[in-house]
Amino acid sequence: MLFFSGALFISLAVCVHLTPYFPSVSDFVTSVQSVVIFDNRDDSCINLVNEVVWDMKPMRNWGWSKSWKVMACEFQKLGKGDISDLLNGSWVVVAGDSQSRLVVQSLLGLVLNSERMESIKGDLFRRHSDYGIVVEEMGMKLDFVWAPYVANLSNLMMGFKQNRSYPDVLVMGAGLWHMLHFTNASSYGVDLKSLRSSVVVSVRSPHLFWLGMPMLINGMLNTEEKREKLSDEMWHAYDKVLRDSRLLHRYGGPCLLLDIQSLSWNCGPRCTVDGMHYDGAVYEAAVQILLNALLIESHQKLIT
Ligand SMILES: *[C@@H]1O[C@H](CO)[C@@H](O)[C@H](O)[C@H]1NC(C)=O
Ligand SMILES: *[C@@H]1O[C@H](CO)[C@@H](O)[C@H](O)[C@H]1NC(C)=O
Ligand SMILES: *[C@@H]1O[C@H](CO)[C@@H](O)[C@H](O)[C@H]1NC(C)=O
Ligand SMILES: *[C@@H]1O[C@H](CO)[C@@H](O)[C@H](O)[C@H]1NC(C)=O
Repeated sequence: MLFFSGALFISLAVCVHLTPYFPSVSDFVTSVQSVVIFDNRDDSCINLVNEVVWDMKPMRNWGWSKSWKVMACEFQKLGKGDISDLLNGSWVVVAGDSQSRLVVQSLLGLVLNSERMESIKGDLFRRHSDYGIVVEEMGMKLDFVWAPYVANLSNLMMGFKQNRSYPDVLVMGAGLWHMLHFTNASSYGVDLKSLRSSVVVSVRSPHLFWLGMPMLINGMLNTEEKREKLSDEMWHAYDKVLRDSRLLHRYGGPCLLLDIQSLSWNCGPRCTVDGMHYDGAVYEAAVQILLNALLIESHQKLIT
């Protein structure tokens, strides 16, 4: 399924990249080849897309860093219309634990009105369950797959492979359940490596994202077991094996990180009640990071 309507691509290409070079859209349309010039910058922008800063006063507000490098990428918070264009006809799958479910909530919150949001909340938050919705007005199919362990994500990849049917966008993330119930970073690392090999062998690769683990605020965790097992040391050990697994784009892997760690760290203790699940603003920022990354990636796709 093609991902972007031509109209969105052109208007964004013009406003993001071409304004200084082409005085009008018609110039752009007759010189599509010229887009290639901007390839390199797209690549560096992918590495900057997580550079978000928070302004807590008067309320939780976030935006991309104002450093000149980040400014040059002209990241933008997409509204409902642009998201509809961007995801029109797409199949989006978000798989993981409750962090992933919160990402789904934030994505839907950007495209559905509040009554519709209220009406789906019961189903979306049914404990330990999958959830699926087709948003007809924008032609988007969105599935949340409850997959608290990396092994569940590998199974999901196998399912796609067997069905020969891959989503256009796949967001995955798991770690905290393993940390709580196995508390063994090297075993987590083994699972990640096997996930990586199942991802790499897929024929038609979706746009892949990895939802990072949030910062854990130990003293706020709500059970004694969590406070004991989800320690800072263990968190860092899990984070290290994630880096070593080469699952992430930054380390030569297929998945772009949605950096919940830095988003949650920067939003801070005021943004969580249980030291683990954060306010909607954190996940909404992650969704906007994902959307901006998709814009950049699909430029590259359309060019080649
Ligand atoms: C989605 O794309 C289809 C086919 O290109 C088009 O007919 C429809 O109007 C689009 N819908 C939205 C919401 O953009
Ligand atoms: C996820 O994986 C675990 C461990 O392999 C397994 O026990 C569980 O049934 C799986 N859950 C789902 C929803 O597939
Ligand atoms: C594979 O197809 C079956 C039958 O249509 C469906 O139930 C299942 O959810 C699909 N699996 C994946 C991972 O898409
Ligand atoms: C941790 O996992 C590794 C790899 O699966 C295994 O070899 C090791 O015995 C486990 N350690 C403990 C303490 O269970």
